[in-house]
Amino acid sequence: MINTLHFSICNKQDHTFQKSLIDAIENYTKIHFQTEEHLLEKSNYPELASHRKLHDELAIRREHINKEFIDHDDYVTLLQFLKEWWTNHINKDDMEYVSHVMEYIHN
Ligand SMILES: [Fe+2]
Repeated sequence: MINTLHFSICNKQDHTFQKSLIDAIENYTKIHFQTEEHLLEKSNYPELASHRKLHDELAIRREHINKEFIDHDDYVTLLQFLKEWWTNHINKDDMEYVSHVMEYIHN
């Protein structure tokens, strides 16, 4: 979805299509965060509160940045944010709980 949005913006495609992609990404992140937090809760992850705080902060920033894109066509900030979410949160922050969750699953 992020790559499709990037392609669409680079090719100056219709804003309606881009808005639908942004909505889809937003829905995906909501489900992703909820599912993750539920799993962390079930496994008694000790850092759940701070991880949940990261999700809340990302959700607030995402909402603001989406609005800036819709209102002012600020696609640079939007794409930078999505890249940062992917590279920093998913590939770094989320990796911190993997061993804890794996232990929970296998015991
Ligand atoms: Fe996360």
